[in-house]
Amino acid sequence: MDNTKLELSQKLYIETYGCQMNVADSEVVASVMKDNGYIVTEDINEADIILVNTCSIRENAEQRVWGRLDVFKQIKKKKPELTVGVIGCMAERLKEKLIEEKKIVDLVVGPDAYRSLPELLETVESGQKAINVILSKEETYADISPVRLDKNGISAFISIMRGCNNMCSYCIVPYVRGGERSRNPESIIVEAEDLYKKGYKEITLLGQNVDSYNWESEDKNKTVMFAQLLEMVAKISPTLRIRFSTSHPKDMSDEVLYTMAMYSNICNHVHLPAQSGSTEVLEKMKRGYSREWYIDRINAIKKILPNCAVSTDIMTGFSGETEENHKDTLSLMSLVNYDYAFMFKYSERPKTYAARHLKDDVAEEIKSRRLSEIIELQGSLSEKSKKADLGKVFEVLVEGISKKSKDQLFGRNSQNKVVVFPKQDYKIGDYVFVEVTDCTSATLIGKAID
Ligand code: 5AD
Ligand code: SF4
Repeated sequence: MDNTKLELSQKLYIETYGCQMNVADSEVVASVMKDNGYIVTEDINEADIILVNTCSIRENAEQRVWGRLDVFKQIKKKKPELTVGVIGCMAERLKEKLIEEKKIVDLVVGPDAYRSLPELLETVESGQKAINVILSKEETYADISPVRLDKNGISAFISIMRGCNNMCSYCIVPYVRGGERSRNPESIIVEAEDLYKKGYKEITLLGQNVDSYNWESEDKNKTVMFAQLLEMVAKISPTLRIRFSTSHPKDMSDEVLYTMAMYSNICNHVHLPAQSGSTEVLEKMKRGYSREWYIDRINAIKKILPNCAVSTDIMTGFSGETEENHKDTLSLMSLVNYDYAFMFKYSERPKTYAARHLKDDVAEEIKSRRLSEIIELQGSLSEKSKKADLGKVFEVLVEGISKKSKDQLFGRNSQNKVVVFPKQDYKIGDYVFVEVTDCTSATLIGKAID
């Protein structure tokens, strides 16, 4: 592009909330926009267009975005030509209500409609509001090469599927992201190889439920399941680390675990959301497994991958949850010994089965108290998990310079634990063997060994 064109180009600022899928989607959006002459900026003050990629999973995720829209309103007061767009899950859920509610919103685009962004922006240029929230059965953005918005140039996300068919009774995802579809494996391999050639060392394969990845060729003669896809990606190079998220306890197969065991570059970490330790609650949640089934999957992980870390999501205070049910969750956590966990209070979401049929009947104080107990227990389990690493040696992929000291580097081990160690002559992107000598509540501390 020559300089005059560069000056004419509009500058886009993207702010992302929610899960890793949203981070990956923002990279697709950046790519679509760049191909249409827009420039991505990291400085909100120089933006001509602000896009906020949103999450609807819990009420408080949406509250944060409403707060941001008030901030954008102030910016727009000083800069009336600014375009503000809401994209992602909240755009899909609220549609035109977003514009009715906040007049500063010019553009509303759902997760399957990002290709139409340039066209919609033309509508906005002409002084109208623009909306596209059509969900698709096919869209996987397979042919779009995402523009990496991360800074380290070492780890990247690749979205392998979109949407979800599980219909857990509390969950908004199927309503805002549509049905499940698997992306063509060839396009995934091409993207992973390209990242590897550019110097990336770690790829995380993303999907709402990676274990149900199931791609079928048009003539239906060829199918690829998740274990096969994992193997295809792992074979690109032994120096390319592979992670994936999220696994589903009802679908996670031994085959996937055996594939992980076969390739040392597939990281020893499984994120396996339990949600609850009570079969009664799991049934109401329509999770499709019992406590016993979940424990069986954990035992399979520990048998096939003895050094594998396990993390989870726990949700407390779901409809009808009793003190007994809550104790079952605490006992499951102690039994599994999670390395870390994301822990939430149940938040009723419109349209879901639970919102339509089950009462949000656990009092707020009880939810808070149970959540505190869960967080406290996990605190001690996380500490135990880190203490057990003292004296061990891990291969760490260096991701950056420690925030606390420029003489220290940080990276993660295969188990996804953050490790900090003295920099010496090591640099970002190196694999370094580090012996763990100490730990804090959040990190392992060690020294490099030759
Ligand atoms: N309320 C609270 N937490 C939820 N999650 C999903 N839906 C809800 C909800 N309605 C949590 C689950 C899920 C994680 C991504 O968010 O634990 O695994
Ligand atoms: Fe991700 Fe779910 Fe939030 Fe959408 S609603 S951004 S899929 S966590």
